[in-house]
This record gives sequence, structure tokens and C-alpha cells, in this order.
Amino acid sequence: MAKYIIEGGQKLSGKVRISGNKNSILPCLAASLLTEEKVVLKNVPKIADVDVLLEIMSELGTGYSMGDQEIKLQTPKIETHILKNELIRKLRASILLAGALLGRVGKVEFLHPGGDVIGRRDIDLHLSGFEQLGFKVKKTDQEYGVTNGGTKSPVAKIFLEIATVTGTENLILASVLKNGSTVIRNAAQEPHVVDLCKMLNNMGAKIDGIGSSTITIDGVKRLHGVEYAICSDNIELVTYAVAAALTGGEIEIANCQSVDLEPIFWPLRKMGIDFYVNDKSIKVSARNLTAINKLITNVWPGFPTDMMSVMIVLATQARGVSLMHDWIYESRMFFTDKLISMGANITIADPHRVLVYGPTKLYGRQLETPDIRAGMALVLAALIAEGKSIINRAELIERGYEDVVAKFSSLGAKIERID
Ligand code: EPU
Repeated sequence: MAKYIIEGGQKLSGKVRISGNKNSILPCLAASLLTEEKVVLKNVPKIADVDVLLEIMSELGTGYSMGDQEIKLQTPKIETHILKNELIRKLRASILLAGALLGRVGKVEFLHPGGDVIGRRDIDLHLSGFEQLGFKVKKTDQEYGVTNGGTKSPVAKIFLEIATVTGTENLILASVLKNGSTVIRNAAQEPHVVDLCKMLNNMGAKIDGIGSSTITIDGVKRLHGVEYAICSDNIELVTYAVAAALTGGEIEIANCQSVDLEPIFWPLRKMGIDFYVNDKSIKVSARNLTAINKLITNVWPGFPTDMMSVMIVLATQARGVSLMHDWIYESRMFFTDKLISMGANITIADPHRVLVYGPTKLYGRQLETPDIRAGMALVLAALIAEGKSIINRAELIERGYEDVVAKFSSLGAKIERID
């Protein structure tokens, strides 16, 4: 078990480079299974989830080599369509291999995927979508079998009851090589879904309506190899912006992409953070932090659920009362009891809402992280706490953030990692 040891109280300043987006690289890796040709992915983050997904893919027949922010990979032949390795339970994104295998070989058997314990993480919409694409689905407890053999129609029309991110990605992966077309309504519009679609179109797919809630896919016979640079990680960007604001420092964040940042910047601006956007870098500093009346997470272009945990830490240092509401996951807010133990004044109204009263002084504690995003929030809280904090299970944080210790240290934080 890895731990971070953090001595709080340093003002962070300097320049940090954000990495490629975790939730882009995972579907893009899965997409590489749709061709027997070579795929080169760039701006790749060095995170544990990538290693796990590649390990699973190597059993499927993928050969790969990793360079600096780059992966070259090729799957000349699918060796197995059975995904029952225990690694599947380590990350939610393993489910994306199901869509890719359906696209490439028309069959898959898989275990229910794992991932962070942040609430219910159903896959019923993935399964009903597969059926609407003409696959037959068999389910026994935590195992699923999907094969060709259902009723295929020339146009599959799928309406998603929830704009599920991996559900949308899975259905896209399963339908780009299908005979006929597919229309997905209420599709997820997150930047990582856009990334996947752009990469597939560069491979020869015909996907229309990218970035909108209606995606139309005209099936093609084959896809070819590609070189594709994935987008940068907005969650990491917001994390370092909040770190600058909390510690009263000024940070320049590099490798930002020219994607639409307004959906993530507006609540930060309202709370007193200033952004100076240059070409590919952004300078961040903060004035007096003030509470936000209400922050509700939503599907894109709403404020992302994955950024809520660090926003709660920000609210502990903002003057006034902030209502933070995440309706997407039932357990996202439970980590706030750890902030309370550090001295934060938070009322847990119900599993989806907390009231944060600020500003409050935080004190160093020994803490255990429950998931990636809560873990990073605890790191930020420890950076401003008086005294020393120890954050256990730091490997969970490293599933999704590259070089946490090196990046924060370069900004002046006192943080070390021990195994
Ligand atoms: N849902 C269903 N049925 C389904 C699919 C989803 O009821 O078939 C529900 C879920 O139970 C959940 C909600 O819909 O309550 C949203 O789930 P979604 O499917 O959109 O989430 P996901 O695809 O499993 C991705 C990200 C998450 C991020 C969510 C929401 C990846 C690999 N994961 O998960 O990222 O929180 O979208 O934006 O892309 C993280 O990076 O820390 C993380 C958890």
C-alpha cells in the first residue's frame, strides 16, 4: 500500500504540465482493437489504469510498446473473446473492450466491470443497446455473453434513458463496423466521447453529430491504422487550478487544449479564481474565495461529477455557505467525513448533497482514500492543513493522475510517497 506524506502550508507556484485525459485514452485504446493495422496514440498519460487495460488487451492479442507520452499498438488477430480475467474488475473502462470485440469479431463474454465505489454503476443500457444493434445478450449474475444472432435491422435507433459515457462509447465501438446505420439519441457529449469519435473517423469510420446528443454512425467494412493525439485532462487542470487558489499561489498550467473550458471554469470564476488563457497554457490565481450558492453536477456541458470532490475542498476555504449537489452517484459525498475530521464545517444533507460552511482551518490527519477523485481532494486538503497528513491507498489516486508527487513537488509542495 502506497502512502503520501504531506506537510501542509506551502504556497504553490510555478508551471505544471497536465497530462492526457484518462477517460479518453481508455476508449481510444479499446478502439485500436477495431483494426488489424498499427495504431499510435499520443499525449498518453502514465497512469495505472492504462497499464491494467493494456495488460488485459495483451491477452486479447494486442502487442504494444510504450514511449514518452506515446503508445504504439497493434492487434493483428483477436486471440480470445473471453474477458474473465480478474483485472476486468479493477476498472470500469474494461467494459469498453466488450463493444470493441463486438465490432471486430461479433461476440464477447465478460465479467461485470469494477472501478471506483462511488455508487451504483449499472450497465443495463449497454446491454439493451447491444440488443438494439442486433446482438443476443445472455446474463447470469455478474457474467454476460453477447453474440451475433439477434434481430438486425438496417437502421438501429437507440434512445439512452441516461446519457451514459461508457455506454455511448461502447455502442459506438460496437456499431462502426456494422452493416447498416445506427442512431444514438441522448448520447453523452463529454470531450472524451468526442475524442473517441474523432479517432474512429480518422480510422475511416463515418460518425456524424460528434459532440451533440444525437450521433449517427454509418457502418463501414473496415478501419485502418491511425496516429492520434488524445485531449488533455480537464479534471487535472481543475485540480491544479484549485490547488493554486487554496494555497494562495499562482500556477501556470501547460498542455491545455483549446477545447471548450467554459463548462468547467464558470463555478471556479464565481468562487474567485481568475484564469488567463494563452495559446496552450493557462495562468491561474485567486482573489478572496467566496462560496457558491449552489453547484450541481451534470452530464456535459454541465459541471462534471469527477470534479466535485476538489470543489468541496475549495468551498471549505470560501466565505459563506456552498451547497454542493451530485445527483449522479450515491457515494461520491461520503469522503467528506474525512474533511470534517480535518476541521471542515460540512453538513451531509443526504447522499447527494452537502452544505459547506467556510472558511475553516484544516489540520493534518491520517486518512484513507476511498476513490481516485476523493483521494486527490484529500491531497489538496492536506496541502493547506496545519501539520502533517498521511494519505493511505495512494495507489488509487495514481490510477488516474500522472506523477502526483513530482508535479506537486515542482510547485513547492512538501509531499513524499512511501510504499
Ligand atoms: N447508468 C445506468 N445504466 C447504465 C449506465 C449508467 O443506470 O447502463 C447510470 C450509472 O449507474 C450512473 C450514471 O448512469 O449513476 C452515470 O454513469 P455513466 O455510465 O455515465 O458513467 P461511466 O461511463 O461508468 C464515466 C467515467 C467516470 C465518470 C462518469 C460520469 C470513464 C472510464 N469513467 O463512467 O469517471 O464519473 O462517466 O461522467 O469514462 C473517474 O474518472 O473518476 C470516473 C469515475
